[in-house]
Amino acid sequence: MNNIAVIGAGTMGNGIAHVFAQHGFKVFFVDISIAALEDGMVKIAKNIDRQVKKGEVTPEQKQVILAAITTFTDIAEGVKNADLVIEAVTENPSVKISVLQTIDQRAPVACIIASNTSSISITKLAATTNRADKFIGMHFMNPVPVMTLVEVISGYATSQATLAKIVAVISEIHKVALKSNDYPGFVANRILMPMINEAIYTLFEGVAGVEEIDGIMKLGMAHPMGPLQLADFIGLDVCLSILKVLHEGFGNPKYAPCPLLVNMVQAGDKGVKSGKGFYDYSQGNKELIVAVKRN
Ligand code: NAI
Repeated sequence: MNNIAVIGAGTMGNGIAHVFAQHGFKVFFVDISIAALEDGMVKIAKNIDRQVKKGEVTPEQKQVILAAITTFTDIAEGVKNADLVIEAVTENPSVKISVLQTIDQRAPVACIIASNTSSISITKLAATTNRADKFIGMHFMNPVPVMTLVEVISGYATSQATLAKIVAVISEIHKVALKSNDYPGFVANRILMPMINEAIYTLFEGVAGVEEIDGIMKLGMAHPMGPLQLADFIGLDVCLSILKVLHEGFGNPKYAPCPLLVNMVQAGDKGVKSGKGFYDYSQGNKELIVAVKRN
């Protein structure tokens, strides 16, 4: 594999484009929004600057990495010479399905299609293409240039050959592939989201405050970040939609999203991206919100 198309230039897409370019691949970077592509390229340049400061990348390599990335606003153009397409557009099934159908029609027959979805069934997405055997989940972790794991999800029809090629390419970008079958939440979110939901319930029921809940999990369990801060970082809307997938997929009330989470998302408090969640980020740093309304 030499040519990688990355569809979606948001938080995840720019990280994925960055790591492939850094490891010698040619990257076709696609988004419907020119602003998102420009912003994505600025973020990639800034993240490489960090790597230069740490001595991981030389200033000359920075130019080579940036030159390996070509931007497109037309999916058909972006995927026509790709060996692997990684879809990282908005977590919305109908948006993903329409993007995947265009990719399927325009990418070479041998090309593998991967989705970076956090929660949508890989089997369901694969079934909307004519190459379910060459369709797979590649669930990168945020921030992509820093995190080592890629959770690899085989759909019902994913072939062993596709899985083997994806595991190999993940080692070429110096990351670790760990495999999961395709059931709601895969592994990472099936375990993480109930913990976050329980932390929100603990707050909702008045057992402890934000500072105590996050502090207990950080100091007591050696987690680098408390679950409420992590929820803010992931996006409260994203957490809610993953919990809904778990709740619906397993039909088990233990996954029911906490009413406080539902209210916060409805009120527009989505965490870091909206400036406010369990903490206030509007001044550019993280401030504790002492009183959280429970109604
Ligand atoms: P984002 O909202 O930051 O970026 C999505 C991008 O997709 C936007 O730039 C948007 O312009 C573009 N887009 C939307 N419709 C499009 C179309 N029809 N054609 C081309 N581009 C289109 O989203 P983010 O956070 O990067 O998430 C992307 C995917 O990665 C989602 O499936 C999400 O669940 C998954 N994911 C997100 C993680 C996170 O921490 N944010 C972690 C792991 C996976």
